[in-house]
Amino acid sequence: MSDELGFNKIAGAILATALAYMGIKELAHAAYHPHAPEVPAYGADLLAEAMKNTGKSDVAAEPLPFPQPSYVAAMDPAAGEKVFAKCKSCHSIEQGGANATGPNLYGILNNPIGAQDGFGYSAAFKATDLNWGYEELDAYLAKPRGYIKGTAMSFVGLKKEDQRAAVIAYLRSYGDENVPLPTPAVVEDAAEPAEAMPSDAIPSDASVVQEDPMESAAIEAPEAPQE
Ligand code: HEC
Repeated sequence: MSDELGFNKIAGAILATALAYMGIKELAHAAYHPHAPEVPAYGADLLAEAMKNTGKSDVAAEPLPFPQPSYVAAMDPAAGEKVFAKCKSCHSIEQGGANATGPNLYGILNNPIGAQDGFGYSAAFKATDLNWGYEELDAYLAKPRGYIKGTAMSFVGLKKEDQRAAVIAYLRSYGDENVPLPTPAVVEDAAEPAEAMPSDAIPSDASVVQEDPMESAAIEAPEAPQE
């Protein structure tokens, strides 16, 4: 009798241990996701979202709205004057300055393309209809021939965003019109991803666990003793 009780206790302890072990395994599985699902349940999207909020622009996601706060912060005309050294060989900027290889740039901001009297613009410029707003200038200066195919401006472009921001601020300082600085664009759902993550992740994670027959077979195997 007491032997049998002892045996039951031991068997019970073993069973409890086994159950606890399985429980832990199940939990660990749910938490750490040891097998890679064919389609990542939550990866690319949330990662892109998270990266967005770091303000890094080299993420292979959709481009951030223009201009980012860092861009507006880089709009320093003094720094832009230095960048303009690259433009000086072709452009004057003072009011009434002469056209050279390129047109005089006084008052260019918010003015129509190709409007400088007496300058012989390219056919590409003549065929393009736009006003030089901040975004247009930024795109043109980043890659002139990418933005306006066939432009006569043989300048490779300013790769660095802060240089473009600075030189545009410098252009802005030469004009009659006091064009307001651009308002930094706000990433709309900036506050949301942290909150959205658990509710998004749990359902998709759970469905992956259930959909994998191999995995549940492996967990259930010790539960079916033969005797
Ligand atoms: C090698 C000469 C050259 C250099 C260097 C150059 N540009 Fe130009 N730029 C031109 C020419 C030529 C045009 C006219 C383009 C056309 O007709 O297709 C032009 C056009 C422009 C326009 C449009 C003007 C208008 O009237 O619509 C802007 C703005 C401009 N350049 C800014 C710059 C800035 C800023 C830099 C320096 C970062 C620069 N350019 C460097 C030759 C140059």
